[in-house]
Amino acid sequence: MKIDILTLFPKMCEEVLNTSIIGRAREAGLVEISCHNIRDFTDNKHRQVDDAPYGGGTGMIIQAEPVYMSYMHLEGKPHLIYMTPQGKPLTQDKIKELSKIENIAILCGHYEGIDERVIEELEPEEISIGDYVLTGGELPALVLIDAICRMIPGVLRNEEAYQNESHYDGLLEYPQYTRPLEWHGRKVPEVLLSGHHENIAKWQKKEAIKRTKLKRPDLLKD
Ligand code: ADE
Repeated sequence: MKIDILTLFPKMCEEVLNTSIIGRAREAGLVEISCHNIRDFTDNKHRQVDDAPYGGGTGMIIQAEPVYMSYMHLEGKPHLIYMTPQGKPLTQDKIKELSKIENIAILCGHYEGIDERVIEELEPEEISIGDYVLTGGELPALVLIDAICRMIPGVLRNEEAYQNESHYDGLLEYPQYTRPLEWHGRKVPEVLLSGHHENIAKWQKKEAIKRTKLKRPDLLKD
């Protein structure tokens, strides 16, 4: 899978994407990620990408042309996603769908936004990571990429547990424990020590449902 990020802050993205599981996945060639600086596609000597909004108002708007050119220079017309609080809320189903696409580009806005005409021209899929407003699309893009990458075969060590989520689909994860057996007077549930795989699986499913009912009852509506 190949992911291109169109951003004004490529270093910020690189730093995160070189770390931990995603960094290892890139090194292993499981995912190819490139960060492109929108500023490299300006045609003025000051490399200015933004300008004041028509109609007045505070803040600056990213101009259409450098955004357009940064996308047009990519090979093979990747599926374009625009991170914006106006987009559809991100879900695990959407992540699964996107993880099957071979070539994705993610456009990150900054400042007060992007000239509407380039959004109309490129018709990106608009995605939001939640009903709150951040200073830019870089953190949302990194959230999206992290969630997509963990779905790519080979990225996680314990693939089945994480990826084949059909068993626990739509439910929160059951509680997990590690050594010591007893901590601050709290013991690990007996069934997990039994070695009886069927009983353990039943207990985990029951706990997943119990947790979902308690913490996120809205997920059980379907
Ligand atoms: N850019 C700024 N806020 C955002 C959000 N909540 N989701 C996606 N992109 C954003």
